[in-house]
Amino acid sequence: MIEVSHLTKSYGSVTAVDDISFRVEPGEILGFLGPNGAGKTTTMRVLTGYMPATEGRAVVAGFDVFEQPIEAKRRIGYLPETPPLYPEMTVHEYLSFVARIKGVPGGEREQRVNSSMERTRIDDMAGRHCGKLSKGYRQRVGLAQAILHNPEVLILDEPTAGLDPKQIIETRELVKELAGDHTIILSTHILPEVSQTCQRVVIINRGRVVAEDTPDNLTARLRGAETVLLEIDTNGADPAPALSAVDGVTRVTATPGATGLSKTEVETVQGRDLRRDLARAVVTNGWGLLELRSMRMSLEEIFLHLTTEETDEDEGGADLVTATSSAPEAPDA
Ligand SMILES: Nc1ncnc2c1ncn2[C@@H]1O[C@H](COP(=O)(O)OP(=O)(O)OP(=O)(O)O)[C@@H](O)[C@H]1O
Ligand SMILES: [Mg+2]
Repeated sequence: MIEVSHLTKSYGSVTAVDDISFRVEPGEILGFLGPNGAGKTTTMRVLTGYMPATEGRAVVAGFDVFEQPIEAKRRIGYLPETPPLYPEMTVHEYLSFVARIKGVPGGEREQRVNSSMERTRIDDMAGRHCGKLSKGYRQRVGLAQAILHNPEVLILDEPTAGLDPKQIIETRELVKELAGDHTIILSTHILPEVSQTCQRVVIINRGRVVAEDTPDNLTARLRGAETVLLEIDTNGADPAPALSAVDGVTRVTATPGATGLSKTEVETVQGRDLRRDLARAVVTNGWGLLELRSMRMSLEEIFLHLTTEETDEDEGGADLVTATSSAPEAPDA
């Protein structure tokens, strides 16, 4: 449904998006995840035909967004970072106006406006001026205008940015409801967003794709070996030989600590929980087991791992943000 190949976008000397490729299947929700400045908004603006790419190709619902922009746009609903509302218009007036611009035939407009308001649960705000809406409702009106012409594809730039926890949950539910009969790309720099909403994730960092998979596979693939941390009172002895002998252990790193204690990191083969065997080995040797815990990489750690590694390779000084605030919209080229 969406196919992006070798897309590059430069703003003068800044390469915001650098040779990215990915696809989204019909009915799927793809999470576009990356830290601030990764190139999410830039990619979405190019995909929606809002600005041209420097290189590469994007096809939406069978139409090349550069060569057949009108056909492509007809099939795309776009929620920009900041929904462009007219403060003097009521919600109903605004949506009717957008319906007219989007070429919804006169006879269908009222019905489309009403059904979009129902779907995004803003019908009770129909008569309210856009300028007087709360942030959450502005975001919902933004969503309502995106689905107004019943597009096949929705491109949502940080749909939950700035919402309160209740609104975040409601918006996630709404996005899930919209999937199925829509294909959705949503961008976020918040991790729970993708694990809870999306079937697949593309992680971008500094304009490049650093990973693409399902949230579960990403966790499994990147976890690789599992690690168990132990703190053992060995009375000064080295616990490594005894722990290495446990079936399934691939590596033991013991760091001698104060007064006979040892902090030990044990890597094990994937998919096996060796905590019981490790505890038994410790006790069998007559040592004291002070702590034992499994370290699993959360999606958050994977994200940090991927995005930090990439920046470390470049020039160091990772500038990662996983907070819930959104950055101000960058000025247009
Ligand atoms: N109009 C512009 N002119 C020059 N540089 C720009 C412009 N818009 C974006 N950039 C730069 O391109 C890079 C990617 O920006 P983009 O807005 O696409 O990131 P983002 O992933 O959406 O970040 P955020 O999470 O903060 O919204 C950044 O380095 C940004 O400074
Ligand atoms: Mg952005």
